[in-house]
Amino acid sequence: MNRRDFLTAASSAALLPLSGATWAQAATRPLPIIPITDVTAGGDRRIKLNLQAATHDFGTGAASATFGINHSYLGPVVRAKQGQTLPFDVTNGIGEVTTLHWHGLHIPGEVDGGPHQEIKPGEVWSPDVPVTQRASMNWFHSHMHGKTARQTYTGLAGVLLIEDDASLSADLPSTYGVDDFMLILQDKMFNCSSQMDYVLTGEVFEEGFTGDTLVVNGAVAPVAQTVPQGLVRLRILNACNARFLTLSLQTGPMTVIASDGGFLASSVQTENILMSPGERYEVLIDTRTADANALMVSFGEDEGFVGILGSMFGGGGNAIPALTLNRRAEAGFTGSLPDRLANLSSADSTEATVTRSFQLNMGGSEELATLATLWGNVCGDGGMGINGRPMKMDRIDEHVRQGDTEIWRIASDDQLHPFHIHGCSFRILTQNGAEPPAYAQGWKDMVHVENEWSEVLVRFDHPATSDAPYMYHCHILEHEDCGMMGQFTVG
Ligand code: C2O
Ligand code: CU
Ligand code: CU
Repeated sequence: MNRRDFLTAASSAALLPLSGATWAQAATRPLPIIPITDVTAGGDRRIKLNLQAATHDFGTGAASATFGINHSYLGPVVRAKQGQTLPFDVTNGIGEVTTLHWHGLHIPGEVDGGPHQEIKPGEVWSPDVPVTQRASMNWFHSHMHGKTARQTYTGLAGVLLIEDDASLSADLPSTYGVDDFMLILQDKMFNCSSQMDYVLTGEVFEEGFTGDTLVVNGAVAPVAQTVPQGLVRLRILNACNARFLTLSLQTGPMTVIASDGGFLASSVQTENILMSPGERYEVLIDTRTADANALMVSFGEDEGFVGILGSMFGGGGNAIPALTLNRRAEAGFTGSLPDRLANLSSADSTEATVTRSFQLNMGGSEELATLATLWGNVCGDGGMGINGRPMKMDRIDEHVRQGDTEIWRIASDDQLHPFHIHGCSFRILTQNGAEPPAYAQGWKDMVHVENEWSEVLVRFDHPATSDAPYMYHCHILEHEDCGMMGQFTVG
């Protein structure tokens, strides 16, 4: 086992029922339903997002110091429709400078909420955000350079759901809180007083911060929900700082219908999904086939490891039943599993006119560490960067011509990193040198990167100036803060 596998194993072990470390994870709580702010009806009222310091009990019996957006922890689900312009008033009440980035949105750089759009304590940021893209599950989170990891972990994150005519008329479960659920998955560390903890060490920077406790919608898992008979839709966000999660069902394969940027061409059956921080997937579960089913979640990206443990512990591996769905007698959405979902042709790489290459770097050179610190990145002892350079706020790394189709190839010099690009959705051509799994062949804004090339086909349709550039970065938030990020303009 190399060091990373060992760390994965050590932290996964905390989830095993035999380990004794599951005091909080033992009880089953009801699934918290995240409140919806539905603005699909329009109107000219401004949409208020109040970033605030608060306290929240995750189910440990103690109040943890948190940040929330209109709530004590996390934000609402903002539900909007393609074609709308969203007039946000984002008020910073957390007592420290922050930003709020709309992850997944195809919007101009000046309203993207990246690290250049700081909101000082007590100030209000009022971007008018034009939603032109198709139905998709997006999210928002802090992007304050050097503080993104801690602020997001503390609770500055929420879901921005876009509907369009096709999604609203689709023959799919859509009764929120009944057969249609939003799941925000995170891992947390709780200290001996049962309060949420975030401690950074040099090693944490290297691996990214990982907790030993899975939290769903702000409640320590496992959680349970009663559902009607029929199809149930789960819209899932991995909002961990650094954890890859492996998702599966207790009974039967899962049906994936959408990824980061919208519906797949047709539904995909899969035994499991490997989900990086920042990714979103929508799945359907047919509750007619079993009285109860559960969404199983295991920590770690090494499926081989999960497989070995799986055979040792009777098939469950290190997975826990994060969300149990208990079926009640009444029928809910009685339609059948969809086949065709969207008009999505296969990605055509011959459309690309420009190719760019990005090598993600970490550890190693002293130069990288020195530059990372010099340029205001926040690291442990090491340094991180892309193409040999850590992030620098006043340096633009790439200039893209608006409307061009490009191939971006990304590789890393060591571990697995989730790579994200602002202002677009892309198609994955190859992932770590191989064809991506079928569920990752639709619209994406996240790609898994290891030592072989991962290639994405991308087009940028909106402008970003040098005052408000877009970012590309590793979505392990500690890596991002440490300089594994770059900036580009579109024009
Ligand atoms: Cu989810 Cu640049 O961020
Ligand atoms: Cu983003
Ligand atoms: Cu990384």
